[in-house]
Amino acid sequence: MTRPMPSAADRIVAWLRTSTAPVSGEELAGRLGMSRAAVFKHIEALRARGYTIEASHAQGYRLTATPDRLDETELAPHLSGSWRRVEWHARLDSTQRRARELARDGAPEGTVVVAEEQTAGRGRLGRTWHSPAGCNVYCSLVLRPALSPLVVPQLALVLGLGSARAIRAASGLEARLKWPNDVLVGGRKVVGILTEMEAELERVELVLAGIGVNVNGTIEDFPAELRDKVTSLAVAAGRPIDRVAFMARLLDQLEATYRAFLAHGFAGLRSEWEEWSALGGRRVTVRTADGDRTGRVVGLDDDGALRLTDDAGALHRVVAGDVTLADGYA
Ligand code: BTN
Repeated sequence: MTRPMPSAADRIVAWLRTSTAPVSGEELAGRLGMSRAAVFKHIEALRARGYTIEASHAQGYRLTATPDRLDETELAPHLSGSWRRVEWHARLDSTQRRARELARDGAPEGTVVVAEEQTAGRGRLGRTWHSPAGCNVYCSLVLRPALSPLVVPQLALVLGLGSARAIRAASGLEARLKWPNDVLVGGRKVVGILTEMEAELERVELVLAGIGVNVNGTIEDFPAELRDKVTSLAVAAGRPIDRVAFMARLLDQLEATYRAFLAHGFAGLRSEWEEWSALGGRRVTVRTADGDRTGRVVGLDDDGALRLTDDAGALHRVVAGDVTLADGYA
């Protein structure tokens, strides 16, 4: 698939964004190879999309405010990586569902689906991901890693690390990792990651990595039973977070950790992961398919398995499960 050309509207925004002085309709018309009337129509359409564009007869057009919207036009100027093919939706049932559809139609690695709102956002283990409109990040990535299906669970750890890096860089908050794939701030969940795979026995066909980040949402957005377990970046920081700048950081950091993982395996990221773990030295209970296992967390193995010592001092490896802290998060 080749990259689509930027639309005329996107090019107008790009010109106005970089220009300190107003730009005349005539100049825009010349640069875009269209009439001034056509430029005006695009300006009107941009205003309808939330751009504030001032116009004066004498001087021309000036961009004075951009919308808080996670689309390609807004994200592109902030992105430095190569994941910049973004399909934006005001509302979707689930970005995972749409990403799967695109991937089956051949969408390349790094394709991103974003929704401002999800009506059927999905979490791990059949849970719901609460996805109110216009305040958070809900996105799904199409990945096509040349990996054995056995290694794919490690990807969730890797994407968690990338998310935590992005949170620290964009907000200064101390984001910590809860094995296998949650990111916490102050002991409360801010990021959820859902990785789903289509594979043959020995070869991964595609991975859909769904990432939800509570950015500017409030605690009241969540059902009562979750309110003491979740937070958002804005609640934790005590100020609103620039969603567009955050999402761009997120995509760049997810790509950087993903590439490091493909090049060196999880072993190359393990010590950073452990440094930011919320669980190091803590007593936890892990619910696994083979029953519960309680012990003190020693760290991770090079393959991402959680290492625990039980009360008798014996070391155990857990490859999959759901963790609760035996003594709370304080
Ligand atoms: C979890 O912690 O249970 C994982 C939550 C994953 C939520 C994200 S939001 C974007 C993507 N679309 C979905 O329906 N789910 C994931």
